[in-house]
Amino acid sequence: MRLNRHPQDMLVSRLYAANQGNICDHFLRLDIRSRRARFCGAVSDDGILEYAQNIFRDDSIVCGAFVDGQLRGIVELRSVFRSWSSTTEAALSVEPDWQNIGIGDALFVRMFAMAQNRGVRTIQMMCLKENNRMRHLASKHHALLRNDQDAIEAVLHPYWPTPASVLKEVIGETKGHVHRLFE
Ligand SMILES: CC(C)(COP(=O)(O)OP(=O)(O)OC[C@H]1O[C@@H](n2cnc3c(N)ncnc32)[C@H](O)[C@@H]1OP(=O)(O)O)[C@@H](O)C(=O)NCCC(=O)NCCS
Repeated sequence: MRLNRHPQDMLVSRLYAANQGNICDHFLRLDIRSRRARFCGAVSDDGILEYAQNIFRDDSIVCGAFVDGQLRGIVELRSVFRSWSSTTEAALSVEPDWQNIGIGDALFVRMFAMAQNRGVRTIQMMCLKENNRMRHLASKHHALLRNDQDAIEAVLHPYWPTPASVLKEVIGETKGHVHRLFE
């Protein structure tokens, strides 16, 4: 069931090292089911913390969705190789109480624009076979779904950057800066 929350309550913005604490807290708030869905397997609190502490790399971009100033969802886009390349992988996580109200979709749209604006040609996403919500989200954004053994690989091929994709990112990030200024 979709809760009666509105997209204007939500702010999607790029995350930086200063947000490290919020990122750790966000991952720790994922329940067993969401952790398994996000990491395609069980992960302990220590494992989550180690992952979160290494999330910023030269070849990664992390965006967060804030609702009432609290980080509730994250999307990560990182190069498959250890330096920025045109082949990337992406992963999303939304906290259990905040799922299914449009946060994942908003993160997906921003991640796609950011990838497109950086000349990314391929985005790969892995999810468990039973993750119907993620499969739906990926299909909705025209990903090709491929059956792997226990998982589904979703593949997207962004177009070259367009004025509209650049504007989408610039407007989104400007909103984030303005919001932080007046916080
Ligand atoms: C998967 C996930 C990222 C989606 O984010 P979200 O904020 O819950 O999703 P949204 O509310 O933006 O969109 C959900 C969409 O799936 C649909 N949906 C919900 N449950 C569904 C189900 N069981 N089967 C099919 N579609 C479903 C909704 O109707 C909505 O579709 P619409 O946008 O066309 O109306 C989030 O649920 C999550 O973090 N899950 C745990 C971690 C995970 O699975 N990560 C993915 C690994 S890449």
